[in-house]
Amino acid sequence: MKTRITELLGIEYPIIQGGMAWVAEHNLAAAVSEAGGLGIIGAGGAPAEFVREQIQKVKEATQKPFGVNIMLMNPEADAIAQVVVDEGVKVVTTGAGNPGKYMEMWKAAGVKVVPVVASAGMAKLMERGGADAVIAEGMESGGHIGSITTMALVPQVVDAVDIPVIAAGGIADGRGFAAAFMLGAEAVQLGTRFVAAKESIVHANYKAMLIKAKDIDSAVTGMSTGHPVRSIRNKMTKEYLKMEKEGADFMELEKLTLGSLRKAVTEGDVVNGTVMAGQIAGLVKKEQPCKEIISEIMEEGLALMRSS
Ligand SMILES: Cc1cc2nc3c(=O)[nH]c(=O)nc-3n(C[C@H](O)[C@H](O)[C@H](O)COP(=O)(O)O)c2cc1C
Repeated sequence: MKTRITELLGIEYPIIQGGMAWVAEHNLAAAVSEAGGLGIIGAGGAPAEFVREQIQKVKEATQKPFGVNIMLMNPEADAIAQVVVDEGVKVVTTGAGNPGKYMEMWKAAGVKVVPVVASAGMAKLMERGGADAVIAEGMESGGHIGSITTMALVPQVVDAVDIPVIAAGGIADGRGFAAAFMLGAEAVQLGTRFVAAKESIVHANYKAMLIKAKDIDSAVTGMSTGHPVRSIRNKMTKEYLKMEKEGADFMELEKLTLGSLRKAVTEGDVVNGTVMAGQIAGLVKKEQPCKEIISEIMEEGLALMRSS
């Protein structure tokens, strides 16, 4: 299937695996790219040298294109921006800010720049700054979120820019894939479904909780601080929401979640940790290899699009 995104990124299928801090490491990224999608290493808050090692491991595992997601508030963002150039990475997705200051360097190195946006205004700003595409991410998503749903956001972003749009948030099967295309997207980005992939290194407790989760089992913490995060309801979210209601300040709340995603992902502490996942978790019923996930979505999605 050819779209402007498959052409731009040199991939077989218009399916991108979201950059996910701690979760999207070399095993997952390589598996998605090998299966014909775009695997992405989530740099999260990691040091630049760690990101370099991850990149080198993906390069050992696959010849196919892959990307790196850079959270621009990472204190080592400058160094990571340079590492992707040094290592010849072809695609960078960015979150939590404006990648403007790296644009010239990345363009000169032939890196395709694809920022995550949560509004049409931000998408326009990114296009003006030289972005090659944008990821319009709705608030159904797992992790850090904006305030608009995918259904409302994607067509408005599509109308606002000329560059191709990738839809993210609440997409986990062929129906979501086809719906995103109907809204004008030219690819989809999935996070939650890939967290449960066989190649995903998240702790078994995390996968089990995600697979068990229903549509209403996520909660959004951090609304009061302006940094909302969606994760599966547990003791931590309950405590966090209670403290927010009582007017706790940013630093107090930060203490509660410092290192908490890592705690859930690597130690399997799904009680006090942050089990990031989106509202679509209820649709994720089993652990599957990335290749199977991608072929299932493509088969179902294309059949629906042909019959519409
Ligand atoms: C565990 C987890 C961690 C995430 N971490 C990041 C991140 O570090 N950077 C980022 O841009 N997006 C992050 N996201 C968002 C995903 O990249 C993706 O856009 C989102 O999950 C799509 O929505 P879905 O979960 O409904 O599929 C994360 C999502 C999850 C579930």
